[in-house]
Amino acid sequence: MDNIVIAREAAAREAIKYLRDKYVVGVGTGSTAMAFLRELHKLIISDSIEEILLVPTSTETEIEIIKLGLAHLLRYPWQVNHVDVAIDGADEVDRRKNLIKGGGAALTREKIIDYWAREFIVIVDETKVFPSIPSKHPIPIEVIPFAWSIIKARLEELGGTAELRFGSGKRGPIVTDNGNYIIDYMPKAVMNPDDMERIIKEIPGVVEVGIFSGKRISKVIIGRIDGSVTTM
Ligand code: A5P
Repeated sequence: MDNIVIAREAAAREAIKYLRDKYVVGVGTGSTAMAFLRELHKLIISDSIEEILLVPTSTETEIEIIKLGLAHLLRYPWQVNHVDVAIDGADEVDRRKNLIKGGGAALTREKIIDYWAREFIVIVDETKVFPSIPSKHPIPIEVIPFAWSIIKARLEELGGTAELRFGSGKRGPIVTDNGNYIIDYMPKAVMNPDDMERIIKEIPGVVEVGIFSGKRISKVIIGRIDGSVTTM
């Protein structure tokens, strides 16, 4: 098995320990969150956990829940009055638990559910840990389509590069679950992530920013390629 897969599955298995019967669980998006969903599926079908409800953070995750035969556990935000725990992946994490998210274009629904949860647990493999963010991955920004070129120009004025995201094999820009576009922004200078998030969010037409503040995160579980985990 691929080493990265081993690391992601180790983090996903560790996250299972934070679940309890009757929990409303926010289910993240991406390959690591799907490893978690597969582990959770095993628990559900073996009756090791009972009366769990699942709130997806994207259409992609919703489809996976249905494919696993768990549609009866699926709930939308308006059908529950809280989320006990959200388990989600990330593209980058720094030592203060600040995250870059949105590689899969699901950042807005992820932030809504992850921040709503009483506990927000992040699962990553060790290649996602960096001294500061953003390091390798640009900041995904969900924008209203009408405003994309204006926002791109405003970001470039702040310094760095900003690109409208296109899908592979698709002619047009990627469209999010909310009908918006994604701009990937790599700033020129390193800045405090909270300040960076605030500055970007102030640009009219920006829906959400793929910086998730470490202050909002309960735990980060890091899976290693030898199958061990550490938690910060
Ligand atoms: C989805 O939009 C992202 O925020 C994902 O959580 C992130 O890209 C991590 O995905 P992987 O677990 O597939 O790397």
